[in-house]
Amino acid sequence: MASLSSINTLFLLSIHLLVFLSSPLTTTCIKTPQETEQQQQQQQKQALSPEGEGVLSQDSESDRVINLPGQPSTPSISHFSGYITVNEAHGRALFYWFFEAQSQPSERPLLLWFNGGPGCSSVGYGAAVELGPLRVNTNGTGLLYNKHAWNQEANLLFVESPVGVGFSYTDTSSDLSMLDDTFVAEDAYSFLVNWLQKFPQFKTHDCFLAGESYAGHYVPQLAELIYDRNKDTAKYTPINLKGFIVGNPETNDYYDYKAVLEYAWSHAVISDQLYHKCKRACNFTVSDWSDECNEGMNTVFTTYQQEIDIYNIYAPSCLLNSSSASSSLSHRSESHFEPLTKVNGYSSRTMRIPGGYDPCFTQYVEMYLNRQDVQSSLHVRTVNSNTISWKACNQSLGNTYRYSVFSVLPIYTKLIKGGLKIWVYSGDTDGRVPVIGSRYCIEALGLSIKSPWRSWYHDQQVAGRIVEYEGGLALATVRGAGHLVPLDKPSEALALLHSFLTGQDLRRQR
Ligand SMILES: *[C@@H]1O[C@H](CO)[C@@H](O)[C@H](O)[C@H]1NC(C)=O
Ligand SMILES: *[C@@H]1O[C@H](CO)[C@@H](O)[C@H](O)[C@H]1NC(C)=O
Ligand SMILES: *[C@@H]1O[C@H](CO)[C@@H](O)[C@H](O)[C@H]1NC(C)=O
Ligand SMILES: *[C@@H]1O[C@H](CO)[C@@H](O)[C@H](O)[C@H]1NC(C)=O
Repeated sequence: MASLSSINTLFLLSIHLLVFLSSPLTTTCIKTPQETEQQQQQQQKQALSPEGEGVLSQDSESDRVINLPGQPSTPSISHFSGYITVNEAHGRALFYWFFEAQSQPSERPLLLWFNGGPGCSSVGYGAAVELGPLRVNTNGTGLLYNKHAWNQEANLLFVESPVGVGFSYTDTSSDLSMLDDTFVAEDAYSFLVNWLQKFPQFKTHDCFLAGESYAGHYVPQLAELIYDRNKDTAKYTPINLKGFIVGNPETNDYYDYKAVLEYAWSHAVISDQLYHKCKRACNFTVSDWSDECNEGMNTVFTTYQQEIDIYNIYAPSCLLNSSSASSSLSHRSESHFEPLTKVNGYSSRTMRIPGGYDPCFTQYVEMYLNRQDVQSSLHVRTVNSNTISWKACNQSLGNTYRYSVFSVLPIYTKLIKGGLKIWVYSGDTDGRVPVIGSRYCIEALGLSIKSPWRSWYHDQQVAGRIVEYEGGLALATVRGAGHLVPLDKPSEALALLHSFLTGQDLRRQR
């Protein structure tokens, strides 16, 4: 039985949703004449964005972001933020930040991105640290332009999901005790439908979902909901979903935890003795780990947490004090690591700050997003005229979340048959959702190989490997990247996205 000391560490970070207008390069979507006509009508109605291409309704114009403190003056970026109500009766709304594509927004798909946790913010990680065009600088005082931003390829939408994350809120506090994968998918669905009401010019664009970490659950589950509801157009607004892409995704607890153990041993993090003890004691096919297994795995996670960054095992640790938005240096602070706690029987998942080249990015983003002037520019509400206390991850949400889904692989099987394009990518220095587990998961789908395992190149070097399967599934690794691939390997990550969206091959040689 799961002991009270159990700890499966995991704060899984991220989901994206992309919606696209099929670009000339996109071969996956063929528009009907009717769709094309609708688009043309919509395009005619569009107002001009700074690039002279956008087409935004009056309703959405009020969410346009102007004068974001510390934003570089060039290049010009067309962005919007605010709340989308997902449940009127409960007063529940999710916060979003949206960036139009930097060129030809009316031609490009819509991509919706999710971070994971559960409880981590897509605005804080996805937008402001990983793949957005404006990233918080290294002292939290302003923003830097990210030349590898994913809005070069797509209209890029970030949502703080579920309620309880970041600026998203509910007036019905009992909502917060109901959170599970089903709840999250329903709200994310409502979010997207209502967002498209506000930004109707994107309704006909191809739509893609994306995300990382625990969004390995959110993304396929939302894709399935959209896929199912698209069949009932009398009842539901159709969404032009074409596929999804997930990075270091939690997919199947058996493979993913087996992989945590094997990765820790094969990368010289833990001893032979600990490895063999866990191998003997742990049966990862069940959610309720034995006491002995909990104790062993606890030691595995603790070994990481006390010493190195599980999310990027070769990166330096952050030496800043973490709890506050303070930028002072100190000895490595214990409080940098979230305490290990047990929740929901087996599913105690500790969240911790993920790593990258600058492992202190969580603190920079917390400094920036807690500023009154920043919140005001982003149209964040006030409570009793006070600013909102914003955190990159809401740990208590992660602790009370109801973990109820063991594997999303059946969804993969269903959606591949349904014709969706699905890519999984994996930074191969992540110890939390290791590449080993993603390989087991993909292998378990039992698909025929279309294009065998090979290296792919970027800047004349091997950037990773890729294997493609019949039905549109691909697994790509990113060499030397951790859990947050777009942060660790920004140029490679953008190349991957480009290939996913356009169907152009990743480079086969230097
Ligand atoms: C913050 O960093 C920017 C460059 O990233 C620098 O120009 C600025 O002076 C720094 N501010 C402080 C208070 O250190
Ligand atoms: C693991 O647990 C499952 C379910 O109880 C059981 O069928 C299986 O035999 C167990 N495996 C091992 C190696 O004990
Ligand atoms: C950082 O943390 C250490 C240990 O808690 C504390 O002694 C020090 O004052 C902190 N520094 C700042 C600037 O907050
Ligand atoms: C974090 O999530 C918990 C639910 O687990 C909720 O009670 C709390 O209000 C959330 N914190 C914030 C700052 O929204």
